[in-house]
Amino acid sequence: MCGITGYLGTLPAVSTAINNLKRLEYRGYDSAGVAFISPQGLRVCRAEGRIVNLESAIKNEQAQSSVAIAHTRWATHGVPCEANSHPHRDCAGNVAVVHNGIIENYAQLRQELTARGHSFSSDTDTETLAHLIEEQLANATQPDLVTAVRDALKLVHGSYAVAVLWAGMPDCMVVARHDSPLIIGVGDSEMLIASDITAVMKYTRDVIVLEDGDCALVTREGATICNLNGDRVNRNHLSVDWDDTAAEKGGHAHFMLKEIYEGPRTVRETLRGRLTPEGLVNLNDLGLSAERIAAINRVCLIGCGTAYHAGVVARRFFEQLIRQPVEVHVASEYRYSDPILDENTLVVLISQSGETADTMAALRLARSYNAITLGVVNVIGSSLAREADARLITQAGPEIGVASTKAYLAQLTALTLLGLYLAEQRAPETASLQSEVRRALSSLPEWLEQCVALAPQMDALSAVVAESSGVFFLGRGYDYATALEAALKLKEISYLHAEAYPAGEMKHGPLALVEPGVTVVGLCTQRTTFDKMLSNLKEVSARSGAVVALIPNGQQVPENAEVTIELPKCPDALMPMLTIVPLQLLAYYVALRRGCPIDQPRNLAKSVTVE
Ligand code: G6P
Repeated sequence: MCGITGYLGTLPAVSTAINNLKRLEYRGYDSAGVAFISPQGLRVCRAEGRIVNLESAIKNEQAQSSVAIAHTRWATHGVPCEANSHPHRDCAGNVAVVHNGIIENYAQLRQELTARGHSFSSDTDTETLAHLIEEQLANATQPDLVTAVRDALKLVHGSYAVAVLWAGMPDCMVVARHDSPLIIGVGDSEMLIASDITAVMKYTRDVIVLEDGDCALVTREGATICNLNGDRVNRNHLSVDWDDTAAEKGGHAHFMLKEIYEGPRTVRETLRGRLTPEGLVNLNDLGLSAERIAAINRVCLIGCGTAYHAGVVARRFFEQLIRQPVEVHVASEYRYSDPILDENTLVVLISQSGETADTMAALRLARSYNAITLGVVNVIGSSLAREADARLITQAGPEIGVASTKAYLAQLTALTLLGLYLAEQRAPETASLQSEVRRALSSLPEWLEQCVALAPQMDALSAVVAESSGVFFLGRGYDYATALEAALKLKEISYLHAEAYPAGEMKHGPLALVEPGVTVVGLCTQRTTFDKMLSNLKEVSARSGAVVALIPNGQQVPENAEVTIELPKCPDALMPMLTIVPLQLLAYYVALRRGCPIDQPRNLAKSVTVE
């Protein structure tokens, strides 16, 4: 996601903040900017593209200052361009704000602020904050930046890490966080802020990690931390002993592991603002009219690799929920097919990058038939996001590891929301399933945390799997869809041969391959097929294959399984999101034991922009 840095002290603040920002480049971004307070007042400089562009732009400024805040932006609201880059200012240009996260009620706040005479110069949710702070300062008898920021944040719903400068108090900055990380680095007569410890490590190893609801006044002497009501809170100092390379990955050995750990947060962000107080799904910003939705008589889901597997899960979910024919296709096949498509078909293109050549070709083919096209995509300014009729942005943030993990969870979350949204509008007959799934959605991030906590168990299991001659992942229904993704993960990063099979198909061929040394992972999370799965796993044990079973908590533990992994219990339709997490971890630990270059597997690329 976006990166924030800030500096207050004796060094040149602008160049120090920008240099520290470079330590966050690995996160990915599309523009960068800096704000500082010079003798002439508050100044802002921003540039599209790389940080070097910002450095060239700032060369022409008299950037003398002892305080600066800087930002790299990864677009979420509004396309990547200079006007949408941070910092954002109020009307008078005295307040500058950088922000990571999403302000859910920004549209309403913007409307109210506009009615009160504020004028906006960007499409972002962040700019509302600058104007809210401006109002709080204007309304106070003794204006004070900390109080103004606190009061402004009380009006905001959503997630944020923010840093604010105000020309009226030139020797300080105010920072706050809720659901987005922010740390304060304590130096010798200098203070630093950043969204990630990495960015301050060159200057200090003494760090305060802010907690949700904290708001801090940072001066050269130190940080005073309060909650949003102004009550003082104490936070411990952390002494960081990471080496530089580990730091970039948040203390993890690889980006893939870091990204698996970010899964729960990714799902929380993708759900953010999408459920109305009545518990219905809000996807009104898709831009599909009620008439167009009512006319849909078929859905086609299309993607490549992991994105295709998200489609395989969604096909079943959509069919159950909207009771209409749903197809799923691999984009490279679909683009050369002779499809049956018309203006009443909804074609959903799923892609993390939004640039995959085959997926783009499928999009263009669908458009040539006047089908309704919708991109479920992670990169807001990407080709898919721009060319599809409608888009649903997943909130995974940049994914660096070639093997997709958190983006897959974000795709499943977005597709679940989409399925519910369509069903709410057109399938009253599935209302009870809709409400069962909707009720469970808010607990998903918590269940996912429990799945991530299975890491030590998966590490132990990886010792056996790493020595296997081959691995089968078996499942039925939703579990078969998850099996496909689990096998792909293991193949692509550990180079072990792995195959996914619908469990009932084993006896039609693959059972012949089962012998000592082969591991069979049985995904047994579906209520209706649990007993069938147990029988299928017995067939494997009878041929001396090693059996690993994944079951929901409270289910009967299969007696022939050498290892059983217990998952939180949730509606069957949401189990794919939970089940994949330990299997991503398994792939990771197997690859680690086999000495593979996990983040960049041989022969593979993150974004496949050629055929
Ligand atoms: C490559 C990546 C996969 C990804 C697939 C589709 O194969 O290695 O992780 O799932 O492309 O990419 P997309 O950006 O369209 O989701």
